[in-house]
Amino acid sequence: MSQLIDGKKIAAQIKDEVKCDVEKLRGQGIRICLAVIQVGKDPASTVYVRNKKRACEYVGIESLSYELDETVAEEELLALIEELNRNSKVTGILVQLPLPGHIDEKKVIRTISPDKDVDGFHPESTGKLCIGEKGLLPCTPAGIIELLKRSGIQVGGKECVVVGRSNIVGKPAALLLLRENATVTVAHSRTKDLKEITRRADILVAAVGKPLFITADYVKEGAVVIDVGIHRDEENHLCGDVDFENVKGKTSAITPVPGGVGPMTIAMLMRNCVAASQK
Ligand code: GUN
Repeated sequence: MSQLIDGKKIAAQIKDEVKCDVEKLRGQGIRICLAVIQVGKDPASTVYVRNKKRACEYVGIESLSYELDETVAEEELLALIEELNRNSKVTGILVQLPLPGHIDEKKVIRTISPDKDVDGFHPESTGKLCIGEKGLLPCTPAGIIELLKRSGIQVGGKECVVVGRSNIVGKPAALLLLRENATVTVAHSRTKDLKEITRRADILVAAVGKPLFITADYVKEGAVVIDVGIHRDEENHLCGDVDFENVKGKTSAITPVPGGVGPMTIAMLMRNCVAASQK
């Protein structure tokens, strides 16, 4: 029997823990405030931003919303971030990605003060992750580690394969698994014999960005499968990078979509908001 890794339940536990921390900090006179910037009206981003603000409300973190027009000039966005960096009431800053093509995403990420970088995307945060220094961790990869730990899945010494090499998920997930003493392989769109590689994995992290891409023939019998993807199938149902029904029977544990990694990203963001307020 495969274990269904319940990300919704684990995320709810973490949010409750954060809620307690926020209350304690309030008792010490520390207030946490997250500034959320959205540029344009991408429907998926709107849903993510709404869920992040709802989570803030639940745990007792104040959130400030900045909804900028799709055509906003890059300088205007950078000026807003600089103003929020200087604002001592604001303890965390999040710019929802992706940004419109005329805005340099890397420049925007670099402009956020590393102390307020609750997404963990700033080069200072990723550099610290790389050399094993304490810092703010990217939320989705941190959520993957937390899911594994809280599901009783040992990571140390395991063969882990991460499919995908994005700055947001693939690369930091690989670094975090390495930090947990796994043996890590990063595979990607140019990897030769991908199935050969993924079939070696005790823990397979799918961050491919293609719906239902990982089928049973990519998976070793008894593997743990973590699905980072979120897409809509032809019938408009949510699905992941993993063909869940096809793969499930072969796994020892698997995350569903929805209700797997997704809720963890927001729970870990709440945790980062608390950590940033201590800086
Ligand atoms: N777009 C997709 N995932 C994320 C995320 O974790 N943070 C931000 N800011 N934008 C995203």
